[in-house]
Amino acid sequence: MNQMKHVAIIMDGNGRWGIKNKKSRNLGHRQGLKTVEMVIEETIKNKIKFLTLYAFSTENWKRPRIEIRFLLNLLESFLKENIDKLDKNNIRLKVIGNLVRFPTKIQNLLTISQQRTKKNSKLQLNLALNYGSKDEIIRAIKLIKKKKYEVNEKMLNKFLYTFGIPDPDILIRTGDTCRLSNFLLWQLAYTEIFFVKKMWPDFTKKDFVNCIDSFLSRDRRFGKRV
Ligand code: IPE
Ligand code: IPE
Ligand code: MG
Repeated sequence: MNQMKHVAIIMDGNGRWGIKNKKSRNLGHRQGLKTVEMVIEETIKNKIKFLTLYAFSTENWKRPRIEIRFLLNLLESFLKENIDKLDKNNIRLKVIGNLVRFPTKIQNLLTISQQRTKKNSKLQLNLALNYGSKDEIIRAIKLIKKKKYEVNEKMLNKFLYTFGIPDPDILIRTGDTCRLSNFLLWQLAYTEIFFVKKMWPDFTKKDFVNCIDSFLSRDRRFGKRV
């Protein structure tokens, strides 16, 4: 049996959960952080080395400014409150995405957090922030052209934000929505996808383990005839 190396998650449904349970989208985002802590713990327990969380897409800038500000503040306080714990638990933090649009203090915090944890080896936690797959691919092609290298699969992999990270074995999307929303389009070519009806704050340990278990029973053919 293959050891699973990489789980990617589109954490969707915070807003709807918030409206339904707390009458506020933002309180749904806050509640979603509890699920983040749970999946980090479970990923480690299952000896999975990479966890990628879609936290903010290139399209999410279209949201009301007040929600964006809330999300950025939440990110800032999450990092400040948890960086010691992440480091102590031997977790490496890596950002994928284009940070230039973020406030300088958040950029600095992310740089420091990545620097501080870069030698950690139990789990690599990739946070997708201002991440968009189309943006990532175009950026990679531009970099390759600038260096006058040949464009091929290996070279493209090398210039993506995810260089050095194995492609996800599974993608989980919560929130009862069956689409990829510009997430890891290249890297998900052969990933097993699980769409979960529950909203992200309601996603439990049992739901997570169910996805992992059903992955193990799926027949991955990679185009071969077996
Ligand atoms: C996902 O939850 C979190 C982010 C995009 C930051 P949403 O905010 O998209 O929640 P819904 O889909 O509107 O319920
Ligand atoms: C995808 O969720 C982005 C994140 C979870 C960060 P969205 O809620 O933004 O996706 P759409 O708009 O439903 O496609
Ligand atoms: Mg959504």
